[in-house]
Amino acid sequence: MTTNATTTLSRVWQPMQIGPLRLKNRIIVPPRVLNWGEDGVLSQRHLDHYRRLVEGGAAMIVTEQHAAYPIAKGSFHHPCSAWEMHSVPQFQKMADIVHEHGAMGAVELFGPGTHDKGMMLLDEWHPLWGVSDIPSIVHNEVPSVMGQREIDEIVAGFVRSARNVRDGGLDGVELHAAHGYLLCQFLSSIYNKRTDRYGGSLENRARIILDIARGIRAEVGDDLALGIRLSYDEFVDGVGITPDEADEHVRLFASTGLFDYFSISAGSYHTLHRGTAPMQEDDGHLVPFARRAKEIVSDRAAVIAVGKIKDLHLAEEVIASGAADVVAMGRAQLADPQIVRKTLEGREHEIIRCTSVNECIGRLFDETEVICMMNPVTGREARWGTTDRVAPEDAKSVLVVGGGPSGLKLASVAATRGHRVTLVEERDELGGHLNLLSSMPQQPGWAVAADDLVRAAQNAGVEIRLGTRADADFVRSFGADRVFLAVGSYYDTRGVSPWTPQVDEVPGIDAPHVLAIDEAVRRVLEHGGSALGPRVVIVDESGQYLPLGLAELVAEAGAHVSIVTPQMYVGAELERHLGLPWKMPRLLDLGVEFVPQRRLDAVSGACVVTSDLWNGRSVEIPDVSTLVLSIHRRSRTDLAEELVDLGETVQRVGDALAPRKIAELTYEGELIGRQI
Ligand SMILES: Cc1cc2nc3c(=O)[nH]c(=O)nc-3n(C[C@H](O)[C@H](O)[C@H](O)COP(=O)(O)O)c2cc1C
Ligand code: SF4
Repeated sequence: MTTNATTTLSRVWQPMQIGPLRLKNRIIVPPRVLNWGEDGVLSQRHLDHYRRLVEGGAAMIVTEQHAAYPIAKGSFHHPCSAWEMHSVPQFQKMADIVHEHGAMGAVELFGPGTHDKGMMLLDEWHPLWGVSDIPSIVHNEVPSVMGQREIDEIVAGFVRSARNVRDGGLDGVELHAAHGYLLCQFLSSIYNKRTDRYGGSLENRARIILDIARGIRAEVGDDLALGIRLSYDEFVDGVGITPDEADEHVRLFASTGLFDYFSISAGSYHTLHRGTAPMQEDDGHLVPFARRAKEIVSDRAAVIAVGKIKDLHLAEEVIASGAADVVAMGRAQLADPQIVRKTLEGREHEIIRCTSVNECIGRLFDETEVICMMNPVTGREARWGTTDRVAPEDAKSVLVVGGGPSGLKLASVAATRGHRVTLVEERDELGGHLNLLSSMPQQPGWAVAADDLVRAAQNAGVEIRLGTRADADFVRSFGADRVFLAVGSYYDTRGVSPWTPQVDEVPGIDAPHVLAIDEAVRRVLEHGGSALGPRVVIVDESGQYLPLGLAELVAEAGAHVSIVTPQMYVGAELERHLGLPWKMPRLLDLGVEFVPQRRLDAVSGACVVTSDLWNGRSVEIPDVSTLVLSIHRRSRTDLAEELVDLGETVQRVGDALAPRKIAELTYEGELIGRQI
């Protein structure tokens, strides 16, 4: 679906009653594991974030997945459990927060099944409980096949968890039967090979879900709304759940009258990139599935749509078209928990948009706290929930040199606080490294990131001077109270690598056909994909978008391209962001060759000499027209050193301090902008 910015919003603002849920508008927050749990329950960090979401206008928050029985905490560190009795006080706090703002709160109840790590929590090691003995494609542990005793324990656990949610004063529970987790595994022929009353026919595979739903209804009656989250397609070559089969799931569940709503998602552990899709996927890509469900459910229950519905105009279209009653905005409300309110108040120009880069997901699978790379306040609401302005007499004049992510963020935060900020950039455009990234095929998210950082600086009143080279004289004569050098980094061209610590400079690396990747990208953008010649070798240790994007551009122009890396596989960063399954088919179609576990040893004329990581065997790549190095970035420090020698006090920030990921650069900009 496409966004029509001129759509008049009306349907999204209409209240709706769903069972006991009174939604004040049609925008809710879907479940999102944040890895912030403490002692196995919702933490204060969760609650602070939830407060910001409901202050920001969300009509309902569905918590992240919560363990619904003792060994159901799953594979993410810092999980939450609804089964534990000490979840109740946290649910009570959440209920107070959401109700104070006229919003609703529900808890997603979950079991991991085979997608679990039995040895994650030291005191809770356990064999996995599998529907069958199929291991997870991600964790690769063979589960123990559940018998009736375990199944009964699971049903009882879900019921007890729902009671805890009710006792905590919240408004609903949502059964997680999507994304390949336990209840989805029962439904899916990928996992369910059982021949007993839980396998085979659709009714058998759905039995545990209906037993749980009936148990919950018997326990809590109509006090709680009961929803179910389903994957409408597992996208696994026609096996597992397909849309036709999902139609039957919905038909069966709706016929029971047990469910107040259906939340329609998609994807499974084989295809996470289709459920929480990155930049390459269209906005609103899962809406057709919601529409199918709505046609079946009709007015017997509500249907919630999700999937890159990133602004309220698209949400309006979805609801107005009848595809769904409610829209869940996941990452969009991680990027800006106030998106609903800002839209309502005509402050859309202040919205921090989701880029779909998926650093949040990368962090989730890294087992680190989830954040948003565009909004450092998310998750840090207690610390940064408000922005204090300085007294006029304390306002400083601030000079920021460099218009990349950290410089822009620092400038906008400092200016918002009342400082007089000037940002100078020697190029004619702002955005720094983001501009290179956004010039790669299918990478629109980076342009969104650059646009939003620039817009925030403009909104805050930063004076921006483009095409202005700030040398030492400029900085000294400017006479700012505070000077920040956000001048970025450059790619090393000596071949220095942590994989070859004995080498200070790769022999022959100063040959004219050896280019740093930023230079290679610029040449290709300026002169076309054939600018690097017919045989291109890219040595990459970043796992990032630039080498893969460059490979695509030059291979499209007919070059034979090899990507060489000492790492275990090519494209590790894209893998974190669920981008690899989108990029690999294209690169393979173009004949790009992947050479992992290989070090760069020497350049000898047109020959690139590499060696195998494991046995050191030398492998020569002949007739190379261009060798591209995407190995090591170094901070630009010259200007800082010169100014310090002249007795000036300056502070390096962002990549100029240490080359890092965008999330860390925006964080640093926010931090320093608040400290001035
Ligand atoms: C960090 C993160 C954690 C997620 N955790 C859950 C979860 O606990 N349960 C669930 O059903 N879906 C989870 N999802 C999927 C989201 O609910 C949502 O379906 C997905 O992000 C697509 O919606 P969006 O494009 O609006 O973000 C998660 C997504 C993200 C980004
Ligand atoms: S990290 Fe990226 S994908 Fe995730 S919410 Fe933020 S902008 Fe969106």
